[in-house]
Amino acid sequence: MSVSDPVQLMQKIRAALQPWRLGRWPTPLESAPVLAGAAGLAELALKREDRSSTRYGGNKVRALEFLFSDAARGTVFVTVGATGSTHCLATAVHAAAAGCRAVIAQFPQPETPVSRAVAAACAAQAALVVRARAPATLPVAIVEAWHRAGPLGPRRWIPGGGAHPRAVVGHVIAGLELSEQVAAPPDEIVLPLGTGGTAAGVVLAVAALGWPTRVVGVRVAPALVANRWRTLWLAHRARQLVARRGVPLPAPRSLVIADGLGRGYGWPTVDGDAAARLADRHGLVLDPTYGAKAFAFLLQRAAGHVQRVVFWHTFAVPRSTAEPAA
Ligand SMILES: Cc1ncc(COP(=O)(O)O)c(C=O)c1O
Repeated sequence: MSVSDPVQLMQKIRAALQPWRLGRWPTPLESAPVLAGAAGLAELALKREDRSSTRYGGNKVRALEFLFSDAARGTVFVTVGATGSTHCLATAVHAAAAGCRAVIAQFPQPETPVSRAVAAACAAQAALVVRARAPATLPVAIVEAWHRAGPLGPRRWIPGGGAHPRAVVGHVIAGLELSEQVAAPPDEIVLPLGTGGTAAGVVLAVAALGWPTRVVGVRVAPALVANRWRTLWLAHRARQLVARRGVPLPAPRSLVIADGLGRGYGWPTVDGDAAARLADRHGLVLDPTYGAKAFAFLLQRAAGHVQRVVFWHTFAVPRSTAEPAA
């Protein structure tokens, strides 16, 4: 089963779940012929999720539109992530735009100019940031954040990375947008895999479109967090969510997980740094935690027989940073 009218499907999903309007849609799909040549690909297109909002873009904006839906003004969103988490920053920025607030619990990650810039922007935008000294004490920081958010207003919990079935639905719409932007289905869509919501949505969209396209999630977080089981579970729950509202979607088929982690979450890799430098020469700013590692995988892939690729460009540079992003 594939949908005959993707635009109508997007409208039905929006009508069923009433997302908040935070971003600018569709995000552009840009052809990158020169970068494709440098990467050894016949065709490369960039899905510019970084341009999803002028306030603060990136892939998480889509998720937040659905996570914020039916929240009253004044709601305090409590969430969690690493110090360089763009999910935390996007939550803080867009909560403020929606007349709400964000309280964030954070755990330390390896410091890079990018993670420092994101952490500084997040601290400036959130109502409160509670920092754990180490990942092991994160649960204590979460409890403290939840407790201290109480007096600020009605609280709503958002899981780390925004990984929730509602958020996945936002990424389904991102995938469906592609149908209006490409002449033919790509061979592959490559994206960084963190908590899995983005890949879950894209893989559902590819199934709905009836495309033969492989969706490759390049794992950049430990397998406990970023894995096939969790991604497909999120997709399954998102399907149930929309099906209950009269919007059936076919089961996803085409998810491939590749390992791009290296030493650990947030640690730059040699290949990632090289990929980021190459992309930078073509005007594309990749972050070392997500985009650089996914793009490095793409460069290895190009040596094989995959020719027509869409790269999901998920990272938006925070506005307040003057530091180079890679
Ligand atoms: C810049 C960036 N790209 C990709 C991802 C991965 O998205 P997901 O957690 O939905 O797998 C994240 C997650 O935080 C991110 O911040």
